[in-house]
Amino acid sequence: MNILVIGSGGREHALCWKIQQSPLLTKLYCAPGNGGIEDVASCVNLDSSDHEAVISFCQTNKIDLVVVGPEAPLVNGLVDDLDKAGISSFGPNKFASQLEGSKGFTKDICAKYNIPTAAYQKFQNSEDAVAYIKKNGAPIVIKADGLAAGKGVIVAMSEKEAIDAVNDMFAGSFGDAGAEVVIEAFLEGEEASFFAFIDGENILPLATAQDHKRVGDGDTGPNTGGMGAYSPAPVMTDEMCDRTINEIIKPTVQALKDMGAPYKGVLFAGLMITDKGPELIEYNCRFGDPECQVLMTRLESDILPVLMATAEGNLDGITPKWTSDAALTVVMAAKGYPGSYEKGSVIKNIEAANALEKTNVFQAGTRKEGGQILANGGRVLNVAALGKTVKEAKDNAYKAVEAIEWQDGFYRKDIGWRAL
Ligand code: AMP
Ligand code: GLY
Repeated sequence: MNILVIGSGGREHALCWKIQQSPLLTKLYCAPGNGGIEDVASCVNLDSSDHEAVISFCQTNKIDLVVVGPEAPLVNGLVDDLDKAGISSFGPNKFASQLEGSKGFTKDICAKYNIPTAAYQKFQNSEDAVAYIKKNGAPIVIKADGLAAGKGVIVAMSEKEAIDAVNDMFAGSFGDAGAEVVIEAFLEGEEASFFAFIDGENILPLATAQDHKRVGDGDTGPNTGGMGAYSPAPVMTDEMCDRTINEIIKPTVQALKDMGAPYKGVLFAGLMITDKGPELIEYNCRFGDPECQVLMTRLESDILPVLMATAEGNLDGITPKWTSDAALTVVMAAKGYPGSYEKGSVIKNIEAANALEKTNVFQAGTRKEGGQILANGGRVLNVAALGKTVKEAKDNAYKAVEAIEWQDGFYRKDIGWRAL
C-alpha cells in the first residue's frame, strides 16, 4: 500500500516510523515532513490547505490511505474533499471535526447527551460574559470557541483575570476563534488523555497516556503543546477507562451518528479525573502530540490494518497488542518556547542518542541542511524510551537526552513525576 501522512511534528514522525515497519507498506510519503521524517519517508512539499494539490498528488502516486496528523486540515474539510475524489483517509470529516473546532459544539453535545463536563454558558458579547463572571466568581475558565493553536484557554484565578480575558477575546486577540466565548466552571483533579479509534460505530480504546502541559518543572509556568508524556497512566485504572467509554465516548459517538456525520478516526478526550470520576475538558479530533510518540512506542501490532479498519468501518475484531513495558518521552524545546525563540541552531549526537537501547528520538521542529540537523520550531525533539516501569523508561529517556548536544534547547527534568 502507498500511504501519505500529512503533518510535520513529532507526532507525524512517530506515525511514519511505525507505518514504515508495516509489511503491507509499499511506499510512504509525508507532507511536508521534517528533518527526521526524511529518514523514514519521502518528504513532499505539499500544502495541505490546497486540497486540489493533495488530491492530484494522491492520484499520481496511487495513494491508498491519507493519514491526517494535525487538526487544521481536518477542521478545514480535507477528508471531505478526498472522499469526494474517492481517496480513503484516516481522520474525521469537517462536520465531526467540530468536536475540536468548536468548543460550543462539544459543550452542547455534552448537555444534550448528559456527558459529564464543567457547567458552562456561551457568550457573544462582553457585557453578558462579565455579568456571568461576577455572578459565579473565580476560579473560572474562559475559552475562545474556535481553534487557537492551544492558546485559547485561560484558567483565571481571579475575577479580574477572567474579565480581562473575555475583553481580550472579544477585542479580537484570537480573531474569529474568539467571536464566541465559552465560560465554564473550574474543575479540580488530575488530568489524563484518553484515546480511542472510532470507525463511525465501533470504539477501540488505545493504551492510556498522560501529557505535561506546563512549560516548567512541577507543572509551573505557561501552557504549551505538551512537554513530555508517558504511557500507561496509572490514574486511568480499568474502572476509569470503562467509565470514560460508557459515560463520555459512547454518547459522543451516538451524537454524531444522530447528526448524520459518524465519527471516523482517533478521538482524543482531554479528561479531568475529579472526585466524581472522569469529566470531559475538551475533545481533539487527532492524536495528541507528544502522547502519540509514547503510544506508537508501545504498540506492538502493525498499525496499518488498524488505520485502514478505522477508515473502512470494520474495527470490530481488531485487537492491537501493546507491550507491557512503559514508555516515556521528553520534549526538547527551543529556549524561549512557548514564547518567542530563535531558529537555526545546530543539534548534535541525535544518532548516538537514537542508538541507545530501547530509545527513539522523534524529531518535530527540525530541518536537515548539509548533513546537519537544525532547530526549526518551538518543540524540536521528542526523546522516547521504553522500560519495564515508568521509572526505568524515564531513566532511559533522560540518558538519551543527556547524550544530545544542543546549546539552545531546554527540557523539563521531571517528566513522569505523577506516576513515580
Ligand atoms: P484545553 O485547550 O481545553 O485542553 O485547555 C487547556 C488546559 O486548560 C487544560 O489542559 C487544563 O489544564 C485547563 N482547563 C481547561 N478547562 C478547564 C476546567 N474547566 N477546569 C480546570 N482546568 C481547565
Ligand atoms: N498534547 C496535547 C495535544 O496534542 O493537544
